[in-house]
Amino acid sequence: MSAAAAAVPLSHTVTAAGGDADREQRMKWWHEARFGMFIHWGLYSTLGRHEWAMENEGIPLAEYEQLAKRFKPKPNAARDWARLAKQAGQKYMVMTTKHHEGFCHFDSKLTNYTAPKQGPGRDLVKEYVDAARAEGMRVGFYYSLMDWHHPDGARCATDEAARRRFVAYIHGQIRELLTNYGKIDILWYDVAWPLDAKGWESEKMNAMVFQLQPEIIVNNRNQLEGDFATPEQRISADKRAWESCMTMNDSWGYQKADDDWKTPKTIVRNLVTCARDTGNYLLNIGPEADGSIPDESVRILSWVGRWMDRNGVSIYQSETTQPRRSAFASFTRKGNTLYMHVYFWPGQTVALGGLTNRVKSAKLLATGQDVKFEQEKFRVRFTGLPEKAPDDPVTTIAIECDGEPRQDMDWVRKEHPRVTTL
Ligand code: GLC
Repeated sequence: MSAAAAAVPLSHTVTAAGGDADREQRMKWWHEARFGMFIHWGLYSTLGRHEWAMENEGIPLAEYEQLAKRFKPKPNAARDWARLAKQAGQKYMVMTTKHHEGFCHFDSKLTNYTAPKQGPGRDLVKEYVDAARAEGMRVGFYYSLMDWHHPDGARCATDEAARRRFVAYIHGQIRELLTNYGKIDILWYDVAWPLDAKGWESEKMNAMVFQLQPEIIVNNRNQLEGDFATPEQRISADKRAWESCMTMNDSWGYQKADDDWKTPKTIVRNLVTCARDTGNYLLNIGPEADGSIPDESVRILSWVGRWMDRNGVSIYQSETTQPRRSAFASFTRKGNTLYMHVYFWPGQTVALGGLTNRVKSAKLLATGQDVKFEQEKFRVRFTGLPEKAPDDPVTTIAIECDGEPRQDMDWVRKEHPRVTTL
């Protein structure tokens, strides 16, 4: 363990973001990774009507609990998820160990409402952890604080004895999760209703987490800032570390009627936007009750994965970039190389205005081929390109510059000679 990691108990009680050398070190791999897989899987997957079905449909607890007996996933379904994640170019996974419904995929001494004690008859978190590790994925646990099943889950807001029992239960389960499965890389809290940080004893919660897992990173959904922000279903850059989580259709949990799938182009553009603004993209799959991944998710992620095979260099470890967008392209940067991600391909020539650096070389990431270019004062034109986009769904041109790439559109607008020939 490094000196910084050994200093953990002190620094981890600091919940404000930034400026923390220990935090920087813990988060290094995560910043480089850029792309992860979110997995929403639970009893709701047997219904196939979204993970909020229990509450949205007002399903009585006793009726909902029957699903726990019916839930019999195929063995090691998580292996397919981990393989797909790897193929897609994702570097980490975050699985729901317990969603709002309260059912635990892990072995818990604190409740019988668990996978080992109900239908599955085995520990699904263990299967997931083993599968993720086998593919070299970093391992994340999603854990919902809100609990629709626990008897004290709502009354804890108004009854102090209930709050104590419930908080002991939640802290106890987090302890189990972070004790029984080896090294865990991310703890992803969700929905803190109905308590605040004081009620949840969130400072104590995080202190325990870092004591058990000194190198872990935690999100901000236990009412503390944690290590990173979690914009949901939108991409919004933050001054601090951030991860945008998003569904591929409109549901997190399996929803058999939801056919509102994003195209691979939209997914790649979103990933590029996250990488451009140095955030992460946590993209969700909602496996069916048996654990199989919906066909459309497999199709989209495989497509994205083929793109990442050719273009991953422009995504991983991306740095802040000043050239950000044009009407048909977006940008990422690493060192002096600007990656121009063209999503609406204009044909044989692709032009870029206002670049203030000299271009040294350019190539297509799709093929590795050099691209010819002509640089004038206000524009660079990449020429001799195919009429049809050489990559699908987005073509990336790697543009090596003589310094950190800068673009000045003001200069173009103001200084561009207005000498008319008409
Ligand atoms: C929300 C939803 C939930 C989903 C989560 C993912 O909090 O309640 O269903 O798990 O967002 O970010």
